[in-house]
Amino acid sequence: MIRRSFLVGCGSYLPEQVVTNDDLALRVDTSDAWIAQRTGIRSRHIAAPDQMTSDLAIAAARRALEAADLPGEAVDLVILATTTPDNTFPATAVKVQAALGITKGFAFDLQAVCSGFLYALATADNFIRLGQAHTVLVIGAETFSRILDWSDRSTCVLFGDGAGAVVLCAGEGEGHSGDRGILSTHLHADGRHYQQLWVDGGVSSTGTVGHVRMQGQEVFRHAVARLSEVVDEALTANGLTPDDIDWLVPHQANRRIIDSTARRLKLSPEKVVITVDRHGNTSAASVPLALSEAIGDGRIQRGHLVLLEAMGGGFTWGSALVRL
Ligand code: UT7
Repeated sequence: MIRRSFLVGCGSYLPEQVVTNDDLALRVDTSDAWIAQRTGIRSRHIAAPDQMTSDLAIAAARRALEAADLPGEAVDLVILATTTPDNTFPATAVKVQAALGITKGFAFDLQAVCSGFLYALATADNFIRLGQAHTVLVIGAETFSRILDWSDRSTCVLFGDGAGAVVLCAGEGEGHSGDRGILSTHLHADGRHYQQLWVDGGVSSTGTVGHVRMQGQEVFRHAVARLSEVVDEALTANGLTPDDIDWLVPHQANRRIIDSTARRLKLSPEKVVITVDRHGNTSAASVPLALSEAIGDGRIQRGHLVLLEAMGGGFTWGSALVRL
C-alpha cells in the first residue's frame, strides 16, 4: 500500500458583481464580439471595493470544508495560491487559517500566477505523501482586478476575481492508476519568458504594485504547445490513454487554448469543463472554480479520472491527474 492524497471536498466563491463585455466596451475601445470571438469570455466577476483576496479565499475554503464534512480544526496545512495577496506580508494563508479557527499546523502562500493552484496541489500532495501533513486546504484565490490597467484593452478584458478550494486527506492506495486520489503531478517553469506575462511593478523593483502586461500572441503560442506536452506527460507517466480520462478541467484563460488541448486529447467537448465564458481568467482560482462547479452540479463523480492543467506567467505550467 502507498500513501495517497484523496480529494474529499471542493468549494468556491465568486464576488457578486458581474461585469459584461458590453460594460467594458463603455470604458475601453472594445466590443462583445471581439472579446467573445478571440477568448470565449462573455462576463467576469469583480470583487467589491471592500473585499480582499482573503475574504474570497475564506468563503471558498468554508464551502470546501462543508463539502468534506470536516471542521477547520482538522486541517494541519493551508496553502493559498495567489498573485494578489492582501498584504506583502504576512501570507494571506495565515489570515484564512485564523478565520477558520485553525490553530495548529502551518500555512503559507504560493506564487506561480495562473499555474498557482497546480503548484499548490503538487506541494500539498508531497507534504501528505511524506507524512508531514494529513489534512490540507489548497486554495486558489485572486482579486486580479486590482492589478489590471483598466485603460489597456489588451489585458483588462481577460481577467476576473474569484476563489476555489479543495480539501485533501491522507489515504491509502495500491500504487496503480485505478487508485483514488492524486495519481501524479508534473510542474515546469522557464524563466526566460519572465517579461512576456508580468506585472511592471513590485516590492523590490519599483515599490509599487504595478499592472499586468502581456505579449498575448507569444503567451498563446507557448500555452498551446506546453499544455499539449504536459497532458501527454501526465498520461504517459501513468500508462493511460486519452480514452481513460473522464474530465479535462483546464485553466480558463482562452476558449481557443482549451479547445486546442481537448483536440490534442481527442476529447469530446462534453468532457471538458468550461467556465471561461462566465468567469474570465481568474488566475490561480480558475481550475478549482471549474472543478467545484463540475463536482457541485454532479458532472464529476466519485471514481472519475480528472486531468487538471494550467499555464501562466514565468512561464510556469503543470498538470495533475486525480481520481475522485
Ligand atoms: O493565464 C495566462 C495565460 N494567458 C493567456 O493564455 C492569454 C494568451 N493570449 C491570448 O489569449 C490572446 O493572444 C489574446 C486574447 C490576448 C489576444 O488575441 P489575439 O488573437 O492574439 O489578438 P492580437 O493580440 O493579435 O490583437 C489583434 C488585434 C490588434 O489590432 P491590430 O494591431 O490588428 O489593429 C489589437 O490591438 O486586436 C486588437 N485588440 C483588441 N481589439 C478589441 C487587442 N485587444 C482588443 C480588445 N478589443 N480588447
